[in-house]
Amino acid sequence: MNQTAASKPAVERRVALVTGGIGGLGTEICRQLARARREVVAVDLAARSERVAVFREEVADFDGSIRFEPADVSDFDSCRQLIARVEQQHGSVDILVNAAGITRDASLRKMSPQQWHELMRVNLDGVFNMCRNVVDGMTERGFGRIVNISSVNGQTGQFGQTNYSAAKAGVHGFSMALARETARKGVTVNTVSPGYCDTPMVAAISAEIRAQIIADIPVGRLGAPADIARAVKFLAADDAGYITGANLPVNGGYFMSF
Ligand code: CAA
Repeated sequence: MNQTAASKPAVERRVALVTGGIGGLGTEICRQLARARREVVAVDLAARSERVAVFREEVADFDGSIRFEPADVSDFDSCRQLIARVEQQHGSVDILVNAAGITRDASLRKMSPQQWHELMRVNLDGVFNMCRNVVDGMTERGFGRIVNISSVNGQTGQFGQTNYSAAKAGVHGFSMALARETARKGVTVNTVSPGYCDTPMVAAISAEIRAQIIADIPVGRLGAPADIARAVKFLAADDAGYITGANLPVNGGYFMSF
């Protein structure tokens, strides 16, 4: 049937919050959600002011449907205040994408407690801090989409990443448990596990190791942020309500499992 624009069903108004929203994957996730006509709030550290300025220019053509809010995901009160601000300004948080993440790579014999704890506070505590503060609103309204960004290295383990692999595996365990708690309330919780992508995080690996990793990717290239953002948008859609507790790997075939 030929559907005219006028007869198309209206898109439900949804507010999406993306942590790490000005980062390598986060920026593209914000763009794709905005193209899906979501009101998008990108969250990141206020201290990244230079990057925030660049981000604002990068999303200027989205006519205000993407805006920036500062918060520190590793700090529970900062997350609580952020959610309160966004709910006051936009009425709700309907979609939460936890994309904030850092690396502190070192083999275990060289890893300091600080490298371990810094990473855990952002990559794992951050997911708790954000989810804990949105879950009541989502379940009360009877709708929510939570997408947590894990990593192929949480599935396989990676040399030099005991901290990162532990946190990212933890992210999926967390997602499955929360998915059970919220399934009857219209709130889905899923994980996307990117492989190695064309982002500053991967650019920071030594050239030699990076070349070896790319050689091991069956598709033959790094992932593009858009590859990951498409998966997030899919799981965040209103009509994805029967997918929950799932992990969606997007890794170019780097790791395959049943
Ligand atoms: N596999 C096996 N052996 C390795 C190795 C590897 N990947 N890397 C180093 N080694 C070996 C070295 O050959 C060396 O062997 P010898 O002692 O026999 O000479 C030994 O281990 C060196 O161990 P060190 O503890 O001294 O390691 P290092 O300090 O030289 O390097 C590292 C450690 C910086 C973590 C380095 O291994 C590295 O950069 N690894 C890659 C980490 C990585 O992939 N990070 C991903 C970041 S991006 C990301 O995380 C995004 C995502 O989600 C995918």
